[in-house]
Amino acid sequence: MIVAVPRETAQSERRVALVPETVQRLVKSGVEVRVERGAGVSAAFPDDDFTKAGASIVDDPAALLSAADVVVTVGKRDAGFYRQLRRGSTLIGFLNPLGDPTAKETLESAGVTALAMEMIPRITRAQSMDALSSQSNIAGYKAVLLAAGALPKFFPMLTTAAGTIPPARALILGAGVAGLQAIATARRLGAVVSGYDVRAVVKEQVQSLGAAFLEFDLGESAEAAGGYAKELTPEQQERQRAWMVEQIGKNDVVITTALVPGRRAPILVSKAAVEAMKPGSVIVDIAAEAGGNCELTVAEQTIVSPNGVTIIGAVNLPSTMPYNASQLYSRNVYALLQPFIKDGSLVLDPNDEVIKGAMLGGQHS
Ligand code: NAI
Repeated sequence: MIVAVPRETAQSERRVALVPETVQRLVKSGVEVRVERGAGVSAAFPDDDFTKAGASIVDDPAALLSAADVVVTVGKRDAGFYRQLRRGSTLIGFLNPLGDPTAKETLESAGVTALAMEMIPRITRAQSMDALSSQSNIAGYKAVLLAAGALPKFFPMLTTAAGTIPPARALILGAGVAGLQAIATARRLGAVVSGYDVRAVVKEQVQSLGAAFLEFDLGESAEAAGGYAKELTPEQQERQRAWMVEQIGKNDVVITTALVPGRRAPILVSKAAVEAMKPGSVIVDIAAEAGGNCELTVAEQTIVSPNGVTIIGAVNLPSTMPYNASQLYSRNVYALLQPFIKDGSLVLDPNDEVIKGAMLGGQHS
């Protein structure tokens, strides 16, 4: 079996789907790994490291794809890419099936079995394969570093000869994987942190990280099946926004991470809330790509509001820490593949719960 790792082509994508450590493990299980020349360079994995791990380097991307039994990618791909895959092969990656419903059709007609990393069910057995979590963790960490870099203040309280500096106050909206990491990171930097989520179940997790949990009475829990949030009603959203304005105004830093799978991100930071913040305050919106949690967010841009609030429309933060992001993603992919490698070949079990969940079309079969 040949496993191929093409270069990522999406703009500002610096990750690589498999790192040498995983390549070595695959080679040990009798798999041939081919890597497109330079695929790992932007993630600090030179071609030489792949060669040492037992992979061969390929120059022609079309030849790489057409010969592969399994192709592993990270970022967005298009129909042109899918059509280059060999009939009967398997594609693994963030395939964005909710945002790109045509992907399934294109891949089906190309005769390709597609496993979408973001569709792997979040069951205990699949935790080691959970790339959404491994990458969100990085996003939460990096968001705080961006905020700290942009804030004209210290995060920690300092007692100096020139007097005392009070700590910065940080509010983290959405306490899923990214939000919890943002809380932990902001705490480590010494800020006074509070967290908020519509899922009441995260209260203890937020508090155990040393942050206060803000509570707003919605009337009912907003947790749907599988641990995900469900969408709030328009009235709930309006009441939440007014309360939020008040909370946000008390903070120097707001990191927003609230997502509802397959939908536009909820607006939690209205224009009025931005206006309630002090000059120099910073908002880092991790949900920028899904429309943003802040009304003023512009994806991929940093803007400054008329009252002096910096709003960072963060997109693909995991790609800005490509070494560890690739390493963790690569381990997630390996954990998914490894149980199905038999004598050097991939034999997927379509009835396996994880495969069923991840396979495009598998959920309904
Ligand atoms: P996500 O990235 O889909 O959403 C981030 C957070 O935003 C969530 O906590 C969500 O409740 C919150 N949110 C949505 N709408 C909001 C609103 N209007 N206001 C405030 N907050 C809002 O979530 P993520 O991080 O991918 O995971 C969500 C949860 O899934 C985890 O916290 C966990 O409970 C569960 N999970 C389970 C796993 C497992 O069992 N293997 C692995 C990973 C996550």
